[in-house]
Amino acid sequence: MCNTIDPILIDIPFPIMTPRLMIRNVMPGDGEAMHEVRAESWEDLKKWMDWANKDIGDARDAEKIIRENYAKYILREDMMCAAFTHDGRLIALCGLHRFDWTTRSFDIGYYVRSSEHNKGYATELANALTRFAFGALNANRVSICAATGNAASRRVIEKLEFGLETVTKFDAFLPDGSPTGHASYVRYDIESLPDLEVSWANELRN
Ligand SMILES: CC(C)(COP(=O)(O)OP(=O)(O)OC[C@H]1O[C@@H](n2cnc3c(N)ncnc32)[C@H](O)[C@@H]1OP(=O)(O)O)[C@@H](O)C(=O)NCCC(=O)NCCS
Repeated sequence: MCNTIDPILIDIPFPIMTPRLMIRNVMPGDGEAMHEVRAESWEDLKKWMDWANKDIGDARDAEKIIRENYAKYILREDMMCAAFTHDGRLIALCGLHRFDWTTRSFDIGYYVRSSEHNKGYATELANALTRFAFGALNANRVSICAATGNAASRRVIEKLEFGLETVTKFDAFLPDGSPTGHASYVRYDIESLPDLEVSWANELRN
């Protein structure tokens, strides 16, 4: 169904709660924690994230990124999110990106701090964001894209039983300058998505 509401008026019911995580839009003040995560993880991020091809910068640079993305969130142009454990530790940056409010298609992105890899956090947050997109935002399509050589990310997506839609041989350069293609996976519903207890706020306006 075609939706004509001005996106800025769309209510987005963050936070999302899962058994181990609280996921919400980034907010002013998150910069220091984000910088700590990026500093710890920069060697891993440099392998795959196109924005990690330069110096990491400091906590003020991170706060600037946070505030720019908070502004985009308010305008409903992007949804960069932070995922915290229930004791308040920032575990991952993630979000719904490159979306189109008319077709209601959303693209999930994520990175997890290096000290917390292989504990199932990316799988948990991507499952939650997928459920949130379909359940709270009336998504018609949710995609996740990974560089073809990014085995850990592709494993996350495949554990969530997204369908492989396209694989390109070459469409970008990795931060180290080497060429890469991308595998694009998609879901049109949450059928066969692994079980996960997820809830989100009902009336929150932010
Ligand atoms: C990709 C990333 C988000 C995964 O986060 P995570 O929390 O460790 O993911 P999970 O623990 O949920 O699942 C990881 C899976 O990949 C597997 N894996 C990890 N490294 C792997 C590798 N080199 N080759 C194959 N599988 C690998 C793990 O064993 C696990 O699968 P399993 O549950 O079947 O054992 C994390 O590695 C990361 O932040 N990387 C840097 C940024 C990035 O690549 N972001 C994604 C861009 S598309």
